[in-house]
Amino acid sequence: MIRMIMSRFLIKSAWIAVACLAAVSTGCVPNPSAEFAWRDSTTDLIKDARSSLQNTVNENFGTPDDLVAWERLPVNYGGIKGTVAAAPEGTELTPGEFAFSHEGEGEVKPGDTVLWLSGEMAGKEATIQSADAATHLISLKAGTAPAEGTTFAVNFGDQLQLGRMVYMKNCLHCHGVAGDGAGPTAQYLNPRPRDYRLGVFKFTETLATERVTRDDLWRVIKYGIPGTYMPSFLLLDDHETTAVVEYVRWLAMRGELEKRLGDELTDYSQTSLTDQYNKAVESKKAAEAAGDKPEAVPSMSSLRNTAKDDFKEYAESDYADTVDSTADFIAENWTRADDPASVIHPAVARVADTPESRARGRLLYLSDRTKCYTCHGNTGRGNGGATEDFWPKPGSTEKYDARGLHDVWGNPLQPRNLRLGQYRGGRRPVDVFRRIYAGIKGTPMPAFGGTVLKDEEVWDVVNYVMSLPFESDASPSPAPSTKMAAHPVQ
Ligand code: HEC
Ligand code: HEC
Repeated sequence: MIRMIMSRFLIKSAWIAVACLAAVSTGCVPNPSAEFAWRDSTTDLIKDARSSLQNTVNENFGTPDDLVAWERLPVNYGGIKGTVAAAPEGTELTPGEFAFSHEGEGEVKPGDTVLWLSGEMAGKEATIQSADAATHLISLKAGTAPAEGTTFAVNFGDQLQLGRMVYMKNCLHCHGVAGDGAGPTAQYLNPRPRDYRLGVFKFTETLATERVTRDDLWRVIKYGIPGTYMPSFLLLDDHETTAVVEYVRWLAMRGELEKRLGDELTDYSQTSLTDQYNKAVESKKAAEAAGDKPEAVPSMSSLRNTAKDDFKEYAESDYADTVDSTADFIAENWTRADDPASVIHPAVARVADTPESRARGRLLYLSDRTKCYTCHGNTGRGNGGATEDFWPKPGSTEKYDARGLHDVWGNPLQPRNLRLGQYRGGRRPVDVFRRIYAGIKGTPMPAFGGTVLKDEEVWDVVNYVMSLPFESDASPSPAPSTKMAAHPVQ
């Protein structure tokens, strides 16, 4: 049996002890032993397809108690990476002793675990007896050291473990074990806690086509999202915040793998079988009504057997490639998000916030180029005509039962009341610029930058929008005003 030992490592739960010490400032609660919940679309698959998908996800991500680090994903799992080096000249190495060079920060200490990443011992571990930073020599408690050139990691995965601890303690009750946004308190909240599993995040500094950056996640966790139940976690130290950012990214990648593989397998679902069955019944009825000879309706179990055979063929031919290309797709997208080229930098400095600029912004806001007013209303109160309409569900012609906008997670959504002056994605002018430039991901608020509006025009709109809280109360189409109210108009 060939295991992809080079690319996937179990992060041993024994190392939780190490993470625990690091988490002293937030306390170290024993973890509720929990399972990652599966999507409804996964549990809807026929048995064979479901277990293939679940095995793929489990193999590469593990369980909440036994995390697996999949090296092909752009996650900083933590630990110090190094290479076995040639012995310094004139040094006689004892068995179990080896010279090393290491990359990055951190100190190797007695008692730490070394995990061999390459060579014959790949995947095996040893405990460190002593380490000398000056001579670059490590000796192992037991066993012999592998050959020169072997790569290793010390306390590999400690960052992801710490992230998990922080998450379990602070985030799980809203965001859920699997990051599905369905923790025990979630149902009472509006907006709902984010379901990370689509890989979609709303408040990003990136272009409309790109994902969220580590900096965005850091900001949201540190400062919270004003006007929602997402609290600020200023009390976490930087080390913990960095770790929980990685954990959120990792959960998002896990969820995306499950979602994207599931989308490939919909032909092998219970819903698909029921659809086929219903169609067969309908065409039988139609044939009978027309006086034609009807075709026999296949039984559910024969449909299931056919789907099972088809899946077996697919599993033996294309499935592995699908997993591979899906993982590549996810890895590339998340890597690109942190590329500086993905971040929006206005091409021109902020246009001076003058009455003229606000007036131009107001005209754009009320224009049919932007149609801001259709959602946010003529006076910015978030009550535009779009909130009265019935909208179709994503990727379908079927409409929601309730009037008004919805996000990609299917939750009802109000356009912001711009007179409140509350900016969930940050209140600096450049934050509002980025919101308008790239839209708000996962919501119907579209992107305007690059296509509809020039950067100067986006700034005019920013100036107008940011003046709205200070405008005198509303006539249906207020004249541009620079008058500052003593209190923002609510
Ligand atoms: C009391 C409930 C609650 C807790 C606790 C909570 N969140 Fe949230 N979180 C929310 C809500 C609600 C939203 C959605 C806000 C919105 O859609 O505007 C959210 C959104 C987010 C987002 C998405 C930001 C974006 O731009 O889309 C991230 C990331 C996030 N939370 C991370 C965390 C982390 C990490 C923790 C723990 C350290 C945490 N949250 C704890 C309620 C919570
Ligand atoms: C199709 C409807 C729609 C259109 C058109 C639209 N928006 Fe929005 N906008 C929304 C929704 C919905 C939200 C709230 C999203 C959320 O927080 O989940 C929003 C939020 C905002 C926010 C709040 C950002 C923050 O950080 O909290 C601003 C500012 C904004 N829109 C400005 C504009 C401007 C300016 C235009 C036109 C250039 C515009 N919107 C066009 C639907 C729309």
